[in-house]
Amino acid sequence: MEKSFIRKVWRETIKLKFINRGLSGTVQVIGDKSISHRAILFSALAEGTSVIKNLLISEDTKASLKIVEQMGADVKIEDNVSITGQGINGLKKPNNELNAKNSGTTARLLIGLLSKQKFSSTLIGSTQLNKRPMNRITDLLVGHGAQMKIKNNFLPINFNPKEYSFSFQNTKVPSAQVKSALILASLYHNEPTLIEETVPTRDHTERMLVAMGVDILRLGNTLTVPPTTKLEPLNITIPGDISSGAFLIALGLLRGKEIILSNMLINERRLGFIKVLKRMKAKIEILNIREENNEVIGDIKINKSILNGTTVSKDEIPDLIDEIPIFTLLASQAKGLTKVVGAEELKVKESNRLDAMKNFILNLGGHIKLLDDGFEIQGIQKLKKGNIETLDDHRIAMTAIVANIGLNKKIIPDNFECINDSYPSFFEDIKLLGGEINE
Ligand code: S3P
Repeated sequence: MEKSFIRKVWRETIKLKFINRGLSGTVQVIGDKSISHRAILFSALAEGTSVIKNLLISEDTKASLKIVEQMGADVKIEDNVSITGQGINGLKKPNNELNAKNSGTTARLLIGLLSKQKFSSTLIGSTQLNKRPMNRITDLLVGHGAQMKIKNNFLPINFNPKEYSFSFQNTKVPSAQVKSALILASLYHNEPTLIEETVPTRDHTERMLVAMGVDILRLGNTLTVPPTTKLEPLNITIPGDISSGAFLIALGLLRGKEIILSNMLINERRLGFIKVLKRMKAKIEILNIREENNEVIGDIKINKSILNGTTVSKDEIPDLIDEIPIFTLLASQAKGLTKVVGAEELKVKESNRLDAMKNFILNLGGHIKLLDDGFEIQGIQKLKKGNIETLDDHRIAMTAIVANIGLNKKIIPDNFECINDSYPSFFEDIKLLGGEINE
């Protein structure tokens, strides 16, 4: 037999062994981004020093940290992060503009807070954030008398001190950021404020404020926020980010042999991805469920699975809103038709994620039908190698890396850097599980 032929067979065997080797291991995913932003901002409003373990330090949360420092909070980043707050009425006038960079959560929550301060301030953001609508909050607050200058519904916004209040407000869009901005503004009212959402969205603001001593009540979809003069400091460990963990879950479903994500946030409002996948016959188990710091935590075990297509309805969307890019990839690898509807909010994320994922699948030689508010995708598709336009969107970039490793194809995002916005330890965690990128 010719030597080169033997070498070729040998190489192919090694490659096959690699493909068949399941990814396995236990990972402690970085702290949840939504909870981290809130821990930073609310600690700055507390009286005393908050101690936060497993706080996510990423480009997005660094923007929140810098902003609270500019308004007088004392931030110490060691093994844990400690933040000494100024009290609800003690924030200082910043000397410079406040820059939310790429972080929508930072900007949107701050709009509620800055509208109530006794000093003027200016909120700015990156070119990417400057394209995302802020009028979903400013319109509501200006409607009640808040003083702010905003051009064409986008950042920058100039805030001027003005006393205003409201006793009831519907969020109008299914957005936890809008709800949280309204809650923060309501803390400053003299009477209880009712805030209504039509579809329940993530409730970390409510849960954390309750842990800090604010008696927020929920009746159906309506919250009552009492007038508040004091927030107790936090002493918390932030659970693993389920939206970042979603990329490892997807890898596990494509190529896993017992992957465990420990101490993960499994708050029901963030569990949509897992619920829908389980409906599709995913081998995912949640173990050791417990409650800490008013949030629900558990370990998640994942094994390679053959998925069936499903329909994701409008009411389910808020519970898996950030996971739809990676879900789209998984849907292309599920048997039969998967349909997602009522997901128009995806058009105003870090990129238009409906368009971005359409181009993603098409660039890899696949097919997908875009709808006004979602998409239809037929599986199982044989996707090819290719380059992915991320539009600097961290979740599109990470979906490309999962496709690369999970499908064992040279699928390369045009930006790796943006992954640091939410998940700086992404590549370390993948390596821990035995994943290697096809370069
Ligand atoms: C977030 C809420 C969601 C989500 C975002 C984080 C939050 O946005 O997409 O990544 O921390 O409140 P919307 O509230 O705009 O849906």
